[in-house]
Amino acid sequence: MTLLEEIPREPYREGSSPVLETKRLALRAARLEDAKAVAALANDRRIAENTARIPYPYKVADAEKFIGGANKNGEAAFLVTLRDRTVIGACGIMFHYDDVPELGYWLGVPYWNKGYATEALHALIDYAFTDLSHETLQAGARVTNPASRRVLEKCGFQWTGVGLYRINAIKSSAPIDRFRLERSIWSALKTWGRVKRVM
Ligand SMILES: CC(C)(COP(=O)(O)OP(=O)(O)OC[C@H]1O[C@@H](n2cnc3c(N)ncnc32)[C@H](O)[C@@H]1OP(=O)(O)O)[C@@H](O)C(=O)NCCC(=O)NCCS
Repeated sequence: MTLLEEIPREPYREGSSPVLETKRLALRAARLEDAKAVAALANDRRIAENTARIPYPYKVADAEKFIGGANKNGEAAFLVTLRDRTVIGACGIMFHYDDVPELGYWLGVPYWNKGYATEALHALIDYAFTDLSHETLQAGARVTNPASRRVLEKCGFQWTGVGLYRINAIKSSAPIDRFRLERSIWSALKTWGRVKRVM
């Protein structure tokens, strides 16, 4: 999915959470029976060391805790699945250090570099600015994580500076490139996309 495409106006819902569909993916709320699949993918140091909250090793009990605690206090968490329903990762909107909602995302290593994270985030961002009516989104990528930085840039995020984040898996803080996406920029990119498509 690109910025040129629209998400459906009224997405299909599972319980209180919508299912966000893109060309190749579906984003849906996690269920307890997903815990094994989530743990099998997330139990990888390359994922844990690039995210703030994911522990390493990552056990089924960690996945159950994540699923049980998801979608509370204004946060929104989605599993990312292929259209054949294979679970490939997760993404969401959380409140980390302040009241500006923050995007988090990870995919299992076999699914990297196929454009899936960018496609999932486009749907998540559209949801954040439309259904959730957020005005600003923020995100961070470790300075040693060019793939994550590239995903954010492809989604229209702008670099705002460097900060320090606590990384659970390394039990320490690490430098993070900080990014923001304002509603006005998102909207302009969507409008530009529409104009371009007509031509
Ligand atoms: C970051 C992550 C989600 C990216 O997922 P993905 O599906 O591979 O991302 P995409 O395929 O949509 O885009 C990746 C981009 O990074 C680029 N990239 C990948 N590795 C790179 C590297 N070492 N140097 C520079 N660019 C790189 C790819 O070429 C691609 O850009 P392009 O489309 O311009 O070619 C995945 O690597 C991941 O889960 N990492 C661990 C967890 C994490 O870092 N989460 C983000 C922080 S919250």
